[in-house]
Amino acid sequence: MKLLWLGVDVSRVLHLAAVFCLTCVLLKAIQLFHRRRELIRALADFPGFPTHWLFGHVHEVGESRIWMQKYPHAHPMWFGSFSAFLVVTDPDYAKVLLGRGGERLCKTCLACVSPGNGLLILHGPKWHQHRKLLTPGFHYDVLKPYVDLMAESTNVMLDKWEKLTADGKSVELFEHVSLMTLDSIMKCAFSCHSDCQTNRSVLAPPNHGRKFAAQKGNGQIACHCAPKFTSFLFPSLQEKHLHPGCLRPLPHGAACPNREDLAKMTYSTMCIKESLRLYPPVPGVSRQLSKAVTFPDGRTLPEGLVAAISIYLIHRNPEVWKDPLVFDPLRFSPENVSGRHSHLLCLCRNCIGQQFAMNEMKVALALTLLRFELLPDPAMPPLKITRIILRSKNGIHLWRGSP
Ligand code: HEM
Repeated sequence: MKLLWLGVDVSRVLHLAAVFCLTCVLLKAIQLFHRRRELIRALADFPGFPTHWLFGHVHEVGESRIWMQKYPHAHPMWFGSFSAFLVVTDPDYAKVLLGRGGERLCKTCLACVSPGNGLLILHGPKWHQHRKLLTPGFHYDVLKPYVDLMAESTNVMLDKWEKLTADGKSVELFEHVSLMTLDSIMKCAFSCHSDCQTNRSVLAPPNHGRKFAAQKGNGQIACHCAPKFTSFLFPSLQEKHLHPGCLRPLPHGAACPNREDLAKMTYSTMCIKESLRLYPPVPGVSRQLSKAVTFPDGRTLPEGLVAAISIYLIHRNPEVWKDPLVFDPLRFSPENVSGRHSHLLCLCRNCIGQQFAMNEMKVALALTLLRFELLPDPAMPPLKITRIILRSKNGIHLWRGSP
């Protein structure tokens, strides 16, 4: 018996719909099968850890350091059966990829850090044009007067620390450092004195949300990166060359290091670089190849493939660094650096804000060490987690030692 609805044979319609769905599923399956075959072919030169047929390497992501030793230079990483990229762990391979400027960044990875069309995710002629426009804004001379503003923000943070550490308990400092860098970039980049460190209400103003949204962009990077770095650094550093005599008073009464003294902070700079090596705030960057590349050993990667340059693994590669897990600032002494590439990739030339970030780290470090001795809280060691940036899952808990 035929089932009719408005004179149409319903079973026939259902039959057609089922055939349509089945065809779509079949086409998708063929497409995925081709994709997988292409990826296997493209990555054939790069041996790696065996993959699970369904999950790929999803469950082995944490093993990358072991793989780096077993499969030098680069190894494939599969997410499921149909998505894979090449993890690069060798600085010479990374140079080939980074030196070619024109490659697109992997947009999927970056959409969450840089909403809109910021410099970070632009490519091609538009990137060149925007980069050329922005570069003068980060010139050495332009950055000089920012030192005072950075010092102002750091002193606000340190005043808060004085109160927080008064009862002798350990304090979580990550949030305070984040707010300090936000305050600092707001002042330097937008001449906006927001008081965000002391007045939380300005962070989510009901009527001014748009104003803050419009101010995302470069500043966002400073706010995300600098605190990660600084929080890892403080416990491990004792600067010997600084003394209160280095400071000059700012108009509001706070103290600021002399700009010339920043240049003389050689040991601190080495400590900063060594901390950035062990804990790179941006642990990796990715490139989608706009044309095929050939690596120094002759292996090639075709157009369209994604390569993830693991800054974290390159910084811990025993082929590049002797005793890579040892904190040794002297790796960056002028004698040790001269004549060789530093292989410090986290503040690579692609980062337009590297000088800004370096100045901010030096100012914050100098002022902090003049007022505090900070020690790690053994009961709350930082637990690293890698997202777009490297951070601590449980914050950074520090004690105040004897001043
Ligand atoms: C310790 C702090 C910082 C670290 C570790 C860092 C790291 C990086 C890295 C690794 C890149 C390259 C991304 C890629 O090529 O895919 C980058 C790019 C960039 N950084 Fe930074 N950064 C820091 C601070 C800053 C600051 C303070 C600013 C701005 C004030 C900034 C602005 C930018 C911009 C605009 C780009 C994109 C440049 C371009 O594509 O031409 N960064 N940064």
